[in-house]
Amino acid sequence: MKKLGFIIIRKPFSAHTHLRQGKELADVLPSSNIYGAVVCMGNIQPPVSDFQGVRKYRAEIIRQNPQFLPILTLMLTKDTTAETLKRAREEGIRVVKFMPDAATTNALSGITLPDLEKFYPVIGEIKRLNMIFSGHWELAVDPKTGKEIPYSEREEAALPYFDKLVKAFPNMNIIFEHVSTAAAVEFIKATPANVAATITAHHISKTHKDVFGADGKIIDPHYFCYPVLKKEGDRLAVASAYANPKFFFGPDDAPHPKERKMGDKPAGGIFSPAFIALPTVLEVCEELGLVEHFERFVSLRGPTFYDLQPPPEKESRSRYCRQRRQY
Ligand code: NCD
Ligand code: ZN
Repeated sequence: MKKLGFIIIRKPFSAHTHLRQGKELADVLPSSNIYGAVVCMGNIQPPVSDFQGVRKYRAEIIRQNPQFLPILTLMLTKDTTAETLKRAREEGIRVVKFMPDAATTNALSGITLPDLEKFYPVIGEIKRLNMIFSGHWELAVDPKTGKEIPYSEREEAALPYFDKLVKAFPNMNIIFEHVSTAAAVEFIKATPANVAATITAHHISKTHKDVFGADGKIIDPHYFCYPVLKKEGDRLAVASAYANPKFFFGPDDAPHPKERKMGDKPAGGIFSPAFIALPTVLEVCEELGLVEHFERFVSLRGPTFYDLQPPPEKESRSRYCRQRRQY
């Protein structure tokens, strides 16, 4: 029988959570409470795309839990201007989130990856304001043929666009969210220090076999997400990247109502609350002999990249234990 143990770490940091809104927000907020800080994605409806939206969403979250400190993101859309960014920055926003149009759930940016270059003047403003550009890197449609790219190939197909952005904006803080392929891991390792990537618990613990049957049909919609879970070799490459300081934890906790997950075209997004995601990451760390990196991966590198104070050791230890007992 497996020996059970425990580990004490400083407060973990979530660089990627979808808290949703309304009743869903009330349902999922308690499970995010364990994090010292949570980057809350703004792909709600309407998207959080200006300072008024930021104020409204922040107020909605804080109304549900006055102790919770969300790090809100501003969604980059085709209507974002230098003024939008300036006002958002004044409102305390550090992160601009990019979801290429049609690539993932609620991605209503109006900007496709091949179009991204047209928005470089606005992106230059993100850099000037010392904000973080955090993006979902998948190419959904081949610009040459107009055909949909298979889910499993979308991340690799996005790498040339990512490369272009990295080269065009040296020193801008750029995040490659939820990396899922060995190719992207290798690519990111070779980038300069201003570029980092986040890793979920599901991309390192499950593979495409948990989602798709041999005929390519979805067998478990609960594990359907963007980017889709990949092959065993990708899983291992992503999991081994824990040990590299450029990678940190972004669980992409993305719950959907049951009725949207079931049916022919399930919504992409995996419910991955802290009480499942953190033990899963630890288990994979153990499997790979990388436990020594666990705290750095889930608690320390994220705040460092975000220029936040790392969680103080004593206080956070006691809080983590308190929280742990609740679950
Ligand atoms: C996320 C969602 O449901 O909002 N879905 C997903 O499959 N990952 C969006 C995202 O982070 O891409
Ligand atoms: Zn995404």
